[in-house]
This record gives sequence, structure tokens and C-alpha cells, in this order.
Amino acid sequence: MEPSEQNQWKKAAAEAAANLVEDGMVIGLGTGSTAAFFIAALGHRLAEDGLRITGIPTSEQTAALAHNSRLPLTTFAEHAQIDLTVDGADEVEFGTLSLIKGHGGALLREKIVAAASKRMIVIADETKVVSKLGSLVSVPVEVVRFGWQATGRRLTEIGGNPSLRLGPDRKPYVTDGGNYIMDCAFGPIGNPKDVAHRLDHIVGAVEHGLFLGYAAEAIVGGRDGVRTFRREPA
Ligand code: A5P
Repeated sequence: MEPSEQNQWKKAAAEAAANLVEDGMVIGLGTGSTAAFFIAALGHRLAEDGLRITGIPTSEQTAALAHNSRLPLTTFAEHAQIDLTVDGADEVEFGTLSLIKGHGGALLREKIVAAASKRMIVIADETKVVSKLGSLVSVPVEVVRFGWQATGRRLTEIGGNPSLRLGPDRKPYVTDGGNYIMDCAFGPIGNPKDVAHRLDHIVGAVEHGLFLGYAAEAIVGGRDGVRTFRREPA
């Protein structure tokens, strides 16, 4: 598979999601390359269809992209609830639509936005769909900088095999919230709820990239075109 082919799948999924946006909606704007295609497609709909929306971005990077696409932005000061959030993912579990997110570094704001949304649609290419979370990627955990080594030991105790994420400059990667990220290689996860519960109770961990019960629909681009999956009841 060519990278450009994967990008076409991401773009197709993103455009299908942009067509679901309705006039007057407050939209949660995800982070990553798939979300960037969504933001561009939404920009076209504003320019060409006269659609009026406002967006809440999940990262500084997304805020800049939204600005370039002339999407008006708003904040939680003005809106208690988001009508629809559209975001990418690093893994999508088939059936449950549980997600691993945060390889783009924005998991904290992404989860705050997802939790405040009436509806969340995840957009992805078919290489992200797995039968068990943790099959392809690690679980990112955002940790406060103070005592990150102690927090890392706790993550090791629960089987997380954590490694501190580094930036291109080989220095620790710092999130928009000023924290570090420890990528936890759990391997395929049999019981994501149990792992999420353990991560929720680690002192020094601000948030983790297991998104369970947030996405109700997944729009997935691939070889056979765009398919929509709905979350199956647990
Ligand atoms: C950002 O923190 C992540 O949760 C992204 O949603 C994820 O990394 C997907 O990225 P791509 O759309 O670039 O694959």
C-alpha cells in the first residue's frame, strides 16, 4: 500500500464526515492528518454551501489549520456542549469502536472535547481497524513533568512498559498542556476497561489514550470505498 493511497482513504472518510455537518452546529475538531482532511473539507462547505458552524479545536495545531480554512472558532466559555465531534484515531476496535488516541500528542484536549460531545464520529483508514486494542500501537499516557520517573514506575507495575516520548530534537515531547507523554506498550489488550480503570488511578497521570464508549460511529476509508460502522451494544 502506497502512503498516498492511505491518504486517499483518510481523505474519503473525512469528506464523508464533513457531509454530515449541519447548519448551526458546534463542531469538535480533532487532531492529526485525517482530522486535517476533515477541516479542509469543512472549509470548502463553508465557502461553497454557505454552511455556518463554529468549532472547538483539540490542539494548537488544529486551531491553526481551522484558521487557515476560515472556520470560526469558539470555546467552552460560550458553549457547554458540542453537537458533533469528528476526530481520527490510532486504533479502532471493530464492534465496540473503542479507540486508542494520542499518537499526535493531543489526547487530553481530545478527550475533554469528546466527553462534552452529544455525538462523536471517528474517521480513519482501514489499516487502523483492529480486533483488539493495543495490537498495533502503544497506549499514550499524558503525565505531569514533576516526578515523571515515579509515575513511569507505576505504569511499569501495571504492565505498561512505558517509554518517555521524545520530540524530533530528542528532548522530551511537551504537550499543549505542558505535560510529557509516556507511551505504554501493553500489547493486545483483553480487557480495555480494566486497563483504563488502572490508568485512571495512577497519580501523576493526567489522562490516557484509551477512549472507551465515546465514538458511536466510525467512518472508514479503504480499498472498497467508505464504510460506516455503528457501535455494537456492549
Ligand atoms: C492525536 O492525538 C491522535 O489522537 C490522532 O487522532 C491520531 O494520531 C490519528 O492521526 P492520523 O489521522 O494522522 O493518523
